[in-house]
Amino acid sequence: MERTIFVTGGAGFIGSHVIRRFVESYPECQVVNIDALTYAGNLENLKDLENAPNYTFVRADIVNEDEMLSLFEKYRPDGVIHLAAESHVDRSITFPLDFVRTNVLGTVNLLNVARKTWNEDFEGKRFHHVSTDEVYGSLGKTGFFTEETKYDPHSPYSASKAASDHFVRAYADTYGLPVVLTNCSNNYGPNHFPEKLIPLMIHNIIHEKPLPVYGDGNYTRDWLYVVDHARAIDLVFHKGKDRECYNIGGFNEWKNIDLVRLLCKQMDEKLKKEPGTSEKLIAFVKDRPGHDLRYAIDASKINKELGWNPSVTFEEGLSKTIDWYLENKEWLENVTSGAYQEYYKEQYS
Ligand code: NAD
Ligand code: TYD
Repeated sequence: MERTIFVTGGAGFIGSHVIRRFVESYPECQVVNIDALTYAGNLENLKDLENAPNYTFVRADIVNEDEMLSLFEKYRPDGVIHLAAESHVDRSITFPLDFVRTNVLGTVNLLNVARKTWNEDFEGKRFHHVSTDEVYGSLGKTGFFTEETKYDPHSPYSASKAASDHFVRAYADTYGLPVVLTNCSNNYGPNHFPEKLIPLMIHNIIHEKPLPVYGDGNYTRDWLYVVDHARAIDLVFHKGKDRECYNIGGFNEWKNIDLVRLLCKQMDEKLKKEPGTSEKLIAFVKDRPGHDLRYAIDASKINKELGWNPSVTFEEGLSKTIDWYLENKEWLENVTSGAYQEYYKEQYS
């Protein structure tokens, strides 16, 4: 192989799409997936790639210094694409320290090990940190997050991601580590764990369970199809400028309630139900504490500098996503059995 890259969190939602893109697009590149397989990690997401000659999976915890050092020494990676994280805001409200451990300590551990192993010979090396638009806080009714927007996180999740972003920049400034950052809006698509809004609603519509909309449902998110995020990561990893940050988003804002209504409409059509059937399941429930009103990304930098644009409309992406869940009911059943039921009871009772 001509080069080796580490992808952390490759068994998760976005990571699995990044792994697929790199394994299929770069046969000369050895892709090593480092994942601890928490509740959110699922090797079923990568089943079709298991025997690819340029793909290796290693189960390891990014917080463990010895494990990370020995992996860096063994594979001598040229690059790291770092996605491993605790990623769900609601869980961060219940278990904030888990988020500090993985998102802050884990990231700093990786930065440190990369610095030590690369031993200041940074030629041809790159550490790509995958982050979120939630570090910028919440917008009012207008405006967009740009790369210059001041950090103002509100949830333990976004605070832990903001801290990790600061450490990434600090390692660039202090040690000259060649880093690049991307901050993306809400993703959706196949393999999304059904604790997040869209797959949770799809799962509940299939099972004719209530659709829990937090508060009045007027919270707004900017949604991007996950395959387009993976394309953007590929572009920034290969062509982005050192030490730069690129915001990634779909220019695609939806109020939660409107999104859930569209989802209900598409699902009624696909499941051949009377129009309006699934909407009757909508239930307004207790709001999330510290709920950010609105996220919206200005993605003009990545568009102008690297020529990136989303490739599908929201209606197309949502339709493809629903089709994937309807065709992969076993995947959905597997991930919603066991511990998921406990989580659901705690969160929504
Ligand atoms: P996910 O929760 O689906 O997957 C996270 C993965 O990380 C899982 O496979 C899990 O097993 C692994 N992991 C967790 N702790 C680990 C540890 N200590 N060591 C090794 N592996 C560990 O998350 P996702 O939605 O795919 O998000 C991936 C990244 O993208 C995260 O950094 C997240 O902050 C960022 N992001 C997500 C979104 C989104 O909408 N989902 C948007 C922007 C940015
Ligand atoms: P989520 O998918 O958890 O992503 P994030 O909080 O990172 O944006 O939630 C998206 C939006 O949907 C957010 O405003 C919270 C809301 N939401 C609900 O209304 N009901 C739910 O059951 C969930 C999980 C989320």
